Amino acid sequence: MLTQEENDLLTRVGPGKPAGELLRRYWHPVAVAKDLTDENPTQFVRILGEDLVLFRDKKGRVGLMGDRCPHRGASLLYGRAEERGIACAYHGWLFDTEGDCLETPAEPQESKFCLTVKHKAYPLQKFLGLYWAYMGPKPLPVTPKYDLWVRKDGRRRIVVQPQLDCNWFQAMENSVDPSHLQILHQTLIARGRTIANTTRGLTDDVGKFEFYEFHSGIMKKRTYKSGAVDEHPLIFPNILRQANATQIRVPMDNTHTRIFFIRFDPAEDGKPVEQKDDLPVEYTRSYKTPSDGLYPFARFRMDEVQAQDHMAWETQGPISDRTCERLATADRGIVMLREMMKREIEKVQKGLDPLGVVRNPDHPMIDTKLSESLNGPEYRRDLRAMTAA
Ligand code: FES
Ligand SMILES: [Fe+2]
Repeated sequence: MLTQEENDLLTRVGPGKPAGELLRRYWHPVAVAKDLTDENPTQFVRILGEDLVLFRDKKGRVGLMGDRCPHRGASLLYGRAEERGIACAYHGWLFDTEGDCLETPAEPQESKFCLTVKHKAYPLQKFLGLYWAYMGPKPLPVTPKYDLWVRKDGRRRIVVQPQLDCNWFQAMENSVDPSHLQILHQTLIARGRTIANTTRGLTDDVGKFEFYEFHSGIMKKRTYKSGAVDEHPLIFPNILRQANATQIRVPMDNTHTRIFFIRFDPAEDGKPVEQKDDLPVEYTRSYKTPSDGLYPFARFRMDEVQAQDHMAWETQGPISDRTCERLATADRGIVMLREMMKREIEKVQKGLDPLGVVRNPDHPMIDTKLSESLNGPEYRRDLRAMTAA
């Protein structure tokens, strides 16, 4: 159980909030790169409680800046993409990708007023077919070379999940909550086995749950009575690696989260594969009806692992009220994550880099134990569960 202050500390993502400042130390994916075209050169982006516009000018330069025009607040989503940047639809103030104002058409010809206007703009980069934003203090870190993101012996694809209408930390706590697999997902992982006791689900398959801190976050481990072992890392602060996918949970604001999967399909022969940066993209259909409904006025389908998880996360509430929860021993991974968050928030407050911030562009590939799981029975079983219809 947490106090309200502790709950706020872990969950609030806006500027100036402790978790918001921590999250601003990392690059975050904000959009699928190929969704931004000459025909659709602007896209609205809400991230970490800020409303932004992603745009592409006619020269192909891409920028991310505050959605509200600094003149009188009209949305730049409706701006015109031009040669030198984006022009606000209302009075034509023109901005480049750095947020510099280049023109204010209605001012006198000789006016230099535009030079006094600077709009909020964030650094952006294209990586793995996505645009990634960095919203923290300079100098910029680099994107970490997680094995699944950089290995050459396979192909990657992006899966965009339906918007999650709750706080990001509910999805992260789930990533260190191994006991729910055998209960919530029991019918999908049973694979034809008869479940003798649906209350216990497949819990009795598991000998023990363990958690340990590793170089990139928290590893959760299930040791089965059969001797098989499962390990899935939570890559701090907002990524789960599950079998061959990383699931990146990007907080839009305190009560909405955007989730991108980057999946890695290893080559059968283990040889390097040429793949362009524009990865194939799939958009998963909504897990609920109506698709923009909120608990209790939406009904989730329960026919996929991910749909079941979204049900659990959203019905915990827009921001789970942890002041009245009842944690038990199987929840110790959750306690570990909360302690890690507090520790890393304190580092940021002292001016230090939190866990997972990488600054050396030539750092070696970061091993998230992908190789073991891709080659073992865990990968094949997880893959079947993950792709269950
Ligand atoms: S509100 Fe954008 S130019 Fe006036
Ligand atoms: Fe789950």
